[in-house]
Amino acid sequence: MKALVLAGGKGTRLRPLTHTSAKQLVPVANKPVLYYGLEAIRDAGITGVGVIVGDTGREVQSAVGDGSAFGLDVTYIHQEAPLGLAHCVLIAREFLADEPFVMYLGDNFLVDGITGLVDSFRQADYDAQILLTKVAEPQFYGVAELGPDGEIIGLEEKPEHPRSDLAIVGVYTFSPAIHEAVRAISPSARGELEITDAITWLIDNGRRVHSHFVSGYWRDTGRLQDMLECNRIVLEAIEPDIRGTVDGLSDITGRVVIEPGAVVENSVIRGPAVIGAHTKIVNSFVGPYTSIGEGCTLEHAEVEYAIVLGESTIRGVSRLTYSLIGRNVEVTRAPGVPDTCQLMVGDHSRVQVRS
Ligand code: G1P
Repeated sequence: MKALVLAGGKGTRLRPLTHTSAKQLVPVANKPVLYYGLEAIRDAGITGVGVIVGDTGREVQSAVGDGSAFGLDVTYIHQEAPLGLAHCVLIAREFLADEPFVMYLGDNFLVDGITGLVDSFRQADYDAQILLTKVAEPQFYGVAELGPDGEIIGLEEKPEHPRSDLAIVGVYTFSPAIHEAVRAISPSARGELEITDAITWLIDNGRRVHSHFVSGYWRDTGRLQDMLECNRIVLEAIEPDIRGTVDGLSDITGRVVIEPGAVVENSVIRGPAVIGAHTKIVNSFVGPYTSIGEGCTLEHAEVEYAIVLGESTIRGVSRLTYSLIGRNVEVTRAPGVPDTCQLMVGDHSRVQVRS
């Protein structure tokens, strides 16, 4: 069995971070979300992985390499434009050959991994298996309608009026029958070859398509609130590990990881939280559910329920919350009077200030 990991796309809902970087590389507890997926694939006993990349391919490639760091053998497949999930299967035809495979959307996060799904597919005789879960806002996902015996009656991609609250999770398993399906369908109204249409084609052509409910926590990390939630869930389970330097005036409580070379002076860190390597936290408060990347500086700052990427500076600011801060960002206090906010923010940024 092989795996096809989708790491292209534009990531419009995470702009401006995704103007310069791949959405699959935004970190959760200081580790790119894509790594969790690759580890789940390896844990399911798969080693041959095709990674579909687009405009951010170079960055994904330098983060994942040949896959050996994960115990995987990775082949890159370039998609020239985001033409849909079924298009990814189409262009991966040669790589996938005639093997069954799991297709994994690189921004999806499943706490319990995919071993159960992959094992049940290996034992059964299905042409496709999809994962479902109840969500509050099904209009943002592929949606499945089930019949009285749990059989799939219909699948729709981001319907305006969803017929159920069952979202399709971004992990699918397929037999080689999917290749005929992706060739048979036409682009949707939004101009993409939809995997939901290909699965519908399988059902309409008498193929065996099975659905399976996700047991544990799942999130598509395409939006800020979902990134922060995933970060919270992962941090809740981290093992405390202080490898940096903490002075006697600081107070560290709860599950806290301080990576090597980090320095904490006269500060309070209330876990769960992770502080990246070579980051300096001085006269500051880092609150629960916060991940601070490597090489950052926090001085006279208060941050909680946030993700801060590497090399950023936060100085003289209290209190940042519910925030995702990119790389090499500076958030500082405006000097002098009057009491102002002075901004230079990238395109598609969102800033909420206290008036
Ligand atoms: C994709 C699929 C959708 C699925 C979702 C899960 O949407 O098209 O059916 O529910 O992933 O993450 P995307 O988030 O890529 O727009």
